[in-house]
Amino acid sequence: MAKLDTTKIREQLPATTANVYLNTGTYGPMSRHAFAAIAERATEDLQDGRLHGGMQAFQAYAGRLADLRSDLACVVGADANEIALTRSTTEGVNLGIWGRTWSEGDEVVTTSQEHPGILFPLALLRRRYGVKITFADVGHGDSARALQAFADVLHPGVRMVALSHVLYTTGAVLPLREITDMAHSFGAVVHVDGAQSVGAIPVDMHALGIDYYAFSGQKWLCGPDGSGGLFVRADKLASLEPSFASFTTVDYRTFDAKDPQTFVLRPEASCLETGTVYRPAVFGFGAAVAWLKNEVGLDAAHADISLLSGYCRDRAAGIPGATVLSPPGQPSGLVALHIGDVDTTLAVDYLRESGVLIRNIHENNALRISTGFYNTEEEVDLALEKIFEFMRR
Ligand SMILES: Cc1ncc(COP(=O)(O)O)c(C=O)c1O
Repeated sequence: MAKLDTTKIREQLPATTANVYLNTGTYGPMSRHAFAAIAERATEDLQDGRLHGGMQAFQAYAGRLADLRSDLACVVGADANEIALTRSTTEGVNLGIWGRTWSEGDEVVTTSQEHPGILFPLALLRRRYGVKITFADVGHGDSARALQAFADVLHPGVRMVALSHVLYTTGAVLPLREITDMAHSFGAVVHVDGAQSVGAIPVDMHALGIDYYAFSGQKWLCGPDGSGGLFVRADKLASLEPSFASFTTVDYRTFDAKDPQTFVLRPEASCLETGTVYRPAVFGFGAAVAWLKNEVGLDAAHADISLLSGYCRDRAAGIPGATVLSPPGQPSGLVALHIGDVDTTLAVDYLRESGVLIRNIHENNALRISTGFYNTEEEVDLALEKIFEFMRR
């Protein structure tokens, strides 16, 4: 069983010693490595500019992008040419939705527990094209219930199944492989919101068999805001059109603006990328992922996240008046507990005043604790103690 040296790790994550940082599901703490990479680039831009304005700067940037795609491919069990860099999970979700053609009456199946990152693009799809959105009622995400819910609503003709791998409301890990097989048997493509999975639990794109999978950098990968990725299975790339045409879409050296035949999409997921982003953030994201992968170790991080969320779940179940919403046996980095009709916004404020950072989930009137690989049992105990204290007031 992994048990990382949290003291050593926390030296690299100062925010985790300044606070009891139990909200990585919203934003992960920034590492010194990421900060140093961002600061180095930003300082160079300010004071010299050769790495910003010089032509070799573009090459360095393109190289950094390529390295980052490779590192992310390792993290998610994919090949580098199956990774597009994005600025968020939401961007990746949108690229997977708008890259397809839609007609009135098409149907998409999603779950009853989705985040606006998937719900809003689907709602726009419904408004723009008259696409029907069907909600599989997965309850709190218990595996058997989720499978039954999909079996109840899937049928031939459903064009896409769009769902979270880990529910942001309860932390349940959905049985993605089984749902994917079911969806494929009806001819639907599977598009996944991995905001709460990548970096928190082991994921393997090829083993999961899914088609598109969007994820965030700023949560469990401890990257800067505006970072993320989209996996597109190599043999499904042709099923997506770029929603934005940018410098990665087509090879400009063979493109002739007057000849439509030369507008040939690059045969890599990066052809879907939406253009230049804040370059220091790309370097920061690269440093964050490299640190996680090479120094912390993803397997060890996943194991510790799971151990601590199990601990948190067990301890939370002992709080009188609280109900743990996270199903047993499907651990992620999130534990959600319902605390009756207590105002959860006030509860979050109360904990913050004690230096404990968590979030509430309005949909379930629940409190959500994220258990990072740098957190400790003592921190979880403190958070639960504060929650109990607030409930008794
Ligand atoms: C399940 C889920 N999807 C999407 C998002 C949005 O992520 P991003 O800001 O990277 O688009 C979140 C963030 O909280 C989330 O929990």
